[in-house]
Amino acid sequence: MAKITASVYTSHVPAIGAAIDHRKTGEAYWQPMFAGYEYSKQWMKENTPDVIFLVYNDHATAFSLDFIPTFAIGTAAEFVPADEGYGPRPVPKVIGHPQLAAHIAQSVIQDDFDLTIVNRMEVDHGLTVPLSLMCGEPDVWPCPVIPFAVNVVQYPVPSGHRCFQLGRAIRKAVESYDADLKVQIWGTGGMSHQLQGARAGLLNREWDNAFVDRLIADPAGLSAMPHIDYVREAGSEGIELVMWLIARGAMSDVDGGPAPTVRHRFYHIPASNTAVGHLILENN
Ligand code: DHB
Ligand code: FE
Repeated sequence: MAKITASVYTSHVPAIGAAIDHRKTGEAYWQPMFAGYEYSKQWMKENTPDVIFLVYNDHATAFSLDFIPTFAIGTAAEFVPADEGYGPRPVPKVIGHPQLAAHIAQSVIQDDFDLTIVNRMEVDHGLTVPLSLMCGEPDVWPCPVIPFAVNVVQYPVPSGHRCFQLGRAIRKAVESYDADLKVQIWGTGGMSHQLQGARAGLLNREWDNAFVDRLIADPAGLSAMPHIDYVREAGSEGIELVMWLIARGAMSDVDGGPAPTVRHRFYHIPASNTAVGHLILENN
């Protein structure tokens, strides 16, 4: 039986990827931010899973505004980094896990969540920056990755409640896969940030930290928060945080298992326009 061993939560600010790619991580501006991921990179080496199920959002890169899937699962054998305007990031291509992805699609769709099946897709900073933060700069990523894209860019976006319930369905799907695989689920994006309009530059340290407190201790309650609260308190792009509820919903305590261990927690303001939040939870 496959099982979910841990969940990882992290922001995905594109400037973080640029800082790594242009060798600026030691600069005074960046050093405190990257310092918060030193533990995580070591943890990742010691706890390398067989597969990462990586929940992220595409930023009108692979999916233009021509078609907008709410939830899309990457079932391809590989996914190449996208050119977001400055050439593709110089990071390894992502190797998928078509068998497990197809199994999860089958199980989750039969569990009443409508997923879009994606057999060819380029992946943007939403996916590659979390991998860089957690894995550093390897020649190949340490394991296969199943990309799972969520629409948080064009309204209407899915509710926190739906994301949380989807996480539960993903865990059920993983646990019904007939192979001994250790699977991590990552929820990415956030935390508070607004890139546009009169409130551009908005950050909310207090709200962000209360969000993480609740994500750890009361995820079901947190999942009832309406999307307008995210936008009011964490800015228009703060809505990316609903993706963290997918990963949290896949942890075993949600369905009666023991509470997870908080392995690492980090918060730093700002990186570019964004509050960087990060959390590692291990299943017990
Ligand atoms: C920034 C943050 C994001 O989440 C994003 O997708 C693009 C830009 C920023 O802070 O610059
Ligand atoms: Fe983003």
